[in-house]
Parts: sequence; C-alpha cells; structure tokens
Amino acid sequence: MLDGIYIHIPFCMNKCNYCDFLSFKSNEEDRKKYVDYILKEIDLYPEYEYDTVYLGGGTPSLLNCDDVDRIVKRLKIKDGAEVTLEVNPKSVDLEKLRGFKKAGINRVSIGIQTFDDEMLKVLGRMHSSKEGIETYLQAREAGFENISLDLMFSLPNQSLEAVKSDLHRLLELRPEHFSIYSLIWEEGTPFFKKLEDGVYSETENELEAQMFEYIIDKAQEMGYIHYEISNFCLPNREARHNSKYWENKEYLGIGLGASGYVDKKRYKNQVQISKYYDTIDKREIPILESEFVDLDSKEQYKYMLGFRLLKKGVVPSEKYLKKCLELKEKGFLYRVEEHFLLTRKGIMLANDVLDEFI
Ligand SMILES: C[S@@+](CC[C@H](N)C(=O)[O-])C[C@H]1O[C@@H](n2cnc3c(N)ncnc32)[C@H](O)[C@@H]1O
Ligand code: SF4
Repeated sequence: MLDGIYIHIPFCMNKCNYCDFLSFKSNEEDRKKYVDYILKEIDLYPEYEYDTVYLGGGTPSLLNCDDVDRIVKRLKIKDGAEVTLEVNPKSVDLEKLRGFKKAGINRVSIGIQTFDDEMLKVLGRMHSSKEGIETYLQAREAGFENISLDLMFSLPNQSLEAVKSDLHRLLELRPEHFSIYSLIWEEGTPFFKKLEDGVYSETENELEAQMFEYIIDKAQEMGYIHYEISNFCLPNREARHNSKYWENKEYLGIGLGASGYVDKKRYKNQVQISKYYDTIDKREIPILESEFVDLDSKEQYKYMLGFRLLKKGVVPSEKYLKKCLELKEKGFLYRVEEHFLLTRKGIMLANDVLDEFI
C-alpha cells in the first residue's frame, strides 16, 4: 500500500536565476488560502497512512509554523515516519525552526547551493554563505538530528578549486545527508538566456567530470556513502522518501503541479492556481494529466530509476538481461549475484546508460 506523500508549496521570495520549478511570489493571505486547499486535497485521499512525508517547493519554509502544523496534523502519520521540510536560509530563524520541529517535522533539507558569496549573487540567492551556515547551526540547536544540505556545482565560470572549497566547507558541517546537483541550464531561465547570448558557456565535459569525481572520492573518504547518483549520506541516513521514487514505488503528490503515482497511474496536478482551486471546490481530484503505467513501461521505469541507486542496482528480467550483460562488457555495469550496478564509468555517463532502456 502506498505510504509516501509529496506536498508541493509553490512559493518563493524571489526566483533564482537558474530555477524553473513551479513557484512564485505570495503574501501571508495567499499562503493561508493555499494551505486550506492542500488540506481539502489531502481529504480526497482518506485511505492512506504515511511513513514518509515530504514538503517540497518552492520554499515550504516560507509557510508559518501554524500552517505547517495544520498540514502535518491533517495526515495520518505512522510511528517512526520521516517528515521532511525544504528550507531556504533566508526564510527561517531559530524560533521558526523550533516551531517546525514542534509541528512534527523531523528532517530538514536546506538549500545552501554554494558557500561563495559572489556565486550566490550570480545564482540570484537572497542569502549569504554565513546565513546558510547559521541556518544549519540553528536547525541543530532547534533539535534536528537529520539534516540534508543541497549544493550545486558546474556553475558559470566555476573552477575545480571552487568546487573543492564548497565541498570541504559542507563536509566540515557533517550533515547526515547531502545532495549535489550539477547545473541544468533550464530553458526560460535568466541563466539560459545568458547561455544563448554567449555571456555564459557550459562547463567543459572533462572539467565537470573532474569535479564530480573529486566530490565522490572526497565524500567517500570522509565516511559518506554515495548511495544515489546525486545523493550522499552517513550510514543509515538515506532519504527514505526520495528512495521510494528510485525504487519505483507509488506515492501521492499533493498541491499545485505536483506529480504522483497512484493505482498504476503517473499523474501531474493542475498547474494554474485558479483551476487547481476550482477543481477542489468541486471535490474532484485536481489532476491535469495522467498516464497509465502498463507492465512494459513499469519495467522501463525500473531501470531508469533503479540504476540510480548505486548500492542496490537492478535485478533485470529475462528480457533485459542481455542488454545488462552487454553494458557490463562495456564497463558501464558490474554484477553482484543477481544485481547489476553502475560502475564509476557508468555513473559518469549515467544518462547514456539509462537511455539504453527507453
Ligand atoms: C526545489 S529546490 C528546493 C530548495 C529551496 N527552494 C532552495 O532553493 O533553497 C531543490 C534543489 O534543486 C536544485 N536545483 C534547482 N534548480 C536547479 C538547476 N537548474 N540545476 C541543478 N539543480 C537545481 C537546488 O540545489 C535546490 O536546492
Ligand atoms: S531554487 Fe529554490 S528558492 Fe530558488 S527559485 Fe527555485 S525553488 Fe525557489
């Protein structure tokens, strides 16, 4: 039975220059109204109990503690559940973090991105490096024992030395978990425009590979497990909610533009707020589009997602065994009993390997 829920909070103080997530500016009243509708949408799915809850965005930490409390209280949550909230440094202080903890949040994921103040400005972030570190320390003080940090690399004109310095500063903080994303040049963002205009250029493949290899080696040397292509953790601190995505499990997606996977259907919610509200007013599920996942496409998702899990990999069906053996011969996969897993070469060229299964 499905037991994971993602709740999208589409509000940000300001749009970062690289980001195309569904988010916009809001005031206190907009946010309160939105949470009212989130509660109504949750009530449309009375049958589920949750072992993982993920409030993502946008910037869920822009919500006040009462609104977070209202959401958490509305959910049937199992004992020992992981309840995560994404935090942007500029939107919280110690008191607010304590309030989130009291509301039942037991894991925070903080968007640090980089510790370089000049680069933070280039990214369009509202916080300084010092404020990012303060937020991490305040989260500890508020009693969070499970903290994840987000970092980005392969940023415009970024050097290998700058990436090393960012990683060292992150590792000094010793979070239980961190995610590290190489920049994606998303169409429609100010970054993409600058790329088109020739102001920025993409990082050379070779340099980006050096950055990533350094990150993997250093993180492992410092005791972190590289358990997913972009994710590292201390022992037993894997992101339990996100792991459900990679394990191809069903989960509920709530909120504007949220994606979900329920009853063999992958769906996306309405992306226009007025349509989202209107549909919920009619007590209907606010789905914009959905795709039935038949056995063949479920199988494809199994490889596309499963190979991302670097310690588990995939046990192929007979149909794909030959393909896996071929990729093993080419050095992209290795085999442990029935499981096939990405090698270092496979990790570096993961997109090409995963494309083989489409
Ligand atoms: C939805 S954001 C949520 C965190 C929070 N809104 C913040 O930015 O502090 C999740 C993460 O996605 C990453 N991200 C967003 N846009 C990206 C892009 N274009 N390329 C690579 N990573 C990106 C950032 O590291 C960000 O922290
Ligand atoms: S990166 Fe985070 S804070 Fe910045 S616009 Fe995207 S969702 Fe909002």
